[in-house]
Amino acid sequence: MTSNPYPLGLRLHGRRVVVVGGGAVATRRVPALLDAGADVLLVSPELTPALRARVDAGRLHWVARRFVPEDLDGAWLVQVAIDDPIAAASVSAVAAERRIFCVRADDRTAATAWTPAVTRHGPVTVAVFGGGDPRRAMTVRDAIRDLLAVRLAPDETAPTPSRPDALPGATGGRVALVGAGPGDPELITVKGWRLLTEADVVVADRLVPGLLLDELRPDVELVDASKIPYGPSRAQEEINQILVDRALAGAFVVRLKGGDPYVFGRGGEELLACAAAGVPVTVVPGVTSSIAAPAAAGIPVTHRGVAHEFTVVSGHLAPDAPASLVRWDALAGLHGTLVILMGLKNLAAITATLIANGRSPQTPAAVVQEATTGTQRVLRSTLGEVAADLLAADLRPPAVVVVGDVVGALDG
Ligand SMILES: C[S@@+](CC[C@H](N)C(=O)[O-])C[C@H]1O[C@@H](n2cnc3c(N)ncnc32)[C@H](O)[C@@H]1O
Repeated sequence: MTSNPYPLGLRLHGRRVVVVGGGAVATRRVPALLDAGADVLLVSPELTPALRARVDAGRLHWVARRFVPEDLDGAWLVQVAIDDPIAAASVSAVAAERRIFCVRADDRTAATAWTPAVTRHGPVTVAVFGGGDPRRAMTVRDAIRDLLAVRLAPDETAPTPSRPDALPGATGGRVALVGAGPGDPELITVKGWRLLTEADVVVADRLVPGLLLDELRPDVELVDASKIPYGPSRAQEEINQILVDRALAGAFVVRLKGGDPYVFGRGGEELLACAAAGVPVTVVPGVTSSIAAPAAAGIPVTHRGVAHEFTVVSGHLAPDAPASLVRWDALAGLHGTLVILMGLKNLAAITATLIANGRSPQTPAAVVQEATTGTQRVLRSTLGEVAADLLAADLRPPAVVVVGDVVGALDG
């Protein structure tokens, strides 16, 4: 029989769904059921490690044996995720007898329900059936997902209470502090990108990838935070005020910051300013340059048998500056990886302090400039030489300095 399916959105919260099978198909199906709040009973002698982790976390019930008809007691839906057609048919038969819809991974023609290809965009869920061809469904779904990423208007995607996004304030306005990643525009998170496409106002830092801004809707107000005059602290007050004023006027404001908003990004100050004004804030973490810049240069910040810790530190103040909060002498005593941001200007003093306090001048060191962009440059050196090599190579900010044996860990 080839009649079209009748689409429904099943509200499974607290309702029993039985999944028969504990292999790869069940591993893919279970997360969406849990996301819908279903009370999942998994029936299978064996489980994949991913499913076992969910069982151990108390997210679902597991009975370690083959299916028996009583497993469907109280069930609203059953998903058959086994490839043995005889066993699958017997589950289907019990489900049909009890009028419980049954999804079959092994034989869609024998199923009484089909799972669509799905894309979720905030509170909007789009489900696509491909007329019996799952690849067609996925192709159409992917096209819709791309379209929604750029087209959905803010009102259509206002967050629902079940999502961890901030709800709009009294005026409808809100702020999202979004990490834009280290430089490559593709390194923003999916959620960060979605919120960016929904913004009325974007307040962007100097280090955010320009291409992200290029793709904003023409009616979006773009505030270039790096062009705000006054010194750094007055400028920060000014930025806080812009966020609060625009949100109180009803706008959805995205504060787009390089890397992660809370890694030397003053995101905390902006959150507190918004909170003081009663403006709701969502924080979307970003890929921080402190990890991404070394990675882009082929340097893992930890490596088995080489480094069991990494420390991220700001070098914007010299080690002897009275306002410095960094214990450089203590850092010199660590064996692991040291990642220094904003440290080029003070690098000679920093490396001298580390060496004076016991770190070997032979320790490998690297500098990664404009990581993950088309103009990335990498310098490899040693702790003793890196400050001089940096000058000779004319490296400039933004750059990350990495110190530790991990610098050579992946060298053939
Ligand atoms: C004010 S801090 C902001 C850090 C940012 N919040 C993060 O998580 O990456 C700016 C410093 O981050 C580092 N940085 C940011 N982007 C970088 C990149 N693409 N390549 C190298 N270093 C980068 C540099 O040390 C720069 O001086």
